[in-house]
Amino acid sequence: MKGIILAGGAGTRLSPASLPISKILLPIYNKPMIYYPLSVLMMAGIKDILIITNPEDDANFQKLLGDGTQWGMHFSYQIQYIKKGIADAFLLGEDFIGGEECALILGDNIFYGSGFEHLLGQVSQHVNGATVFAYETSEPERFGIVEFDAKGQAVSLEEKPAHPKSNFAVTGLYFYDNQVVQYAKQLKPSARGELEITDLNKMYLADQKLQVARLERGFAWLDTGTHETLLQAANFVHSMQLNQGIEIACPEEIALQKGFISKEQLKNYLANKPKNSYFDYVRHLV
Ligand code: G1P
Repeated sequence: MKGIILAGGAGTRLSPASLPISKILLPIYNKPMIYYPLSVLMMAGIKDILIITNPEDDANFQKLLGDGTQWGMHFSYQIQYIKKGIADAFLLGEDFIGGEECALILGDNIFYGSGFEHLLGQVSQHVNGATVFAYETSEPERFGIVEFDAKGQAVSLEEKPAHPKSNFAVTGLYFYDNQVVQYAKQLKPSARGELEITDLNKMYLADQKLQVARLERGFAWLDTGTHETLLQAANFVHSMQLNQGIEIACPEEIALQKGFISKEQLKNYLANKPKNSYFDYVRHLV
């Protein structure tokens, strides 16, 4: 299975902080935002990842992440010159996807909770149509919203509805079968001129091929879209890490756990890394 991280977007709501650099490279406490969605794909066992960026930020992403071999992975980069919407990722990524199954995660989506790795493993190993993840929110007007019937089956999807039919947001993580590019090619731009991910998911729903996994109450799906929520996300990560003595979204640790790299490789990688609390944590792993 392939993976795509959509790391474009203007990030205007975070200006001026995001003026000189992509929002998705801004830190969430002690690591760049993109480490969090990257870790989700790694936990799903995905090693081959396409990072879609703005023209201005492409070089910075490459400087940070390189070709992925340091973590036993393979990263490719694709510039999105015109903002055509989230589902455009599958048109830009057609060659990269190469007819395989593909997961997509938005660069500003942060997920954290127990059992998540297990859930990701299940979903990625048994892709059946499309799978999306629903999370209860108090601001349903801001998201794609899924409505369920009495049996818990998804019956409708709407993008940022003025009158939401439920409080369940569709989060920015999507798993698709090998038909996704064919579906994406049939999309027409929405009223705001974008190829909507919600319209893509609606096609899977209409063909009875959409699965919706609910993320339960104890789970954290964090917003990073405003100055306030960016700080809240950083505070959340800081306090979880401090309490438990763990790092959230540490690619080195996940690469080691998943067997993408050996301890020996990690030792070599660490040779020229600075002494600080992040790399000391990684050193402690070997
Ligand atoms: C996008 C999607 C929306 C989804 C959200 C999750 O919204 O269009 O369906 O609920 O991501 O983060 P946007 O980031 O464009 O506001």
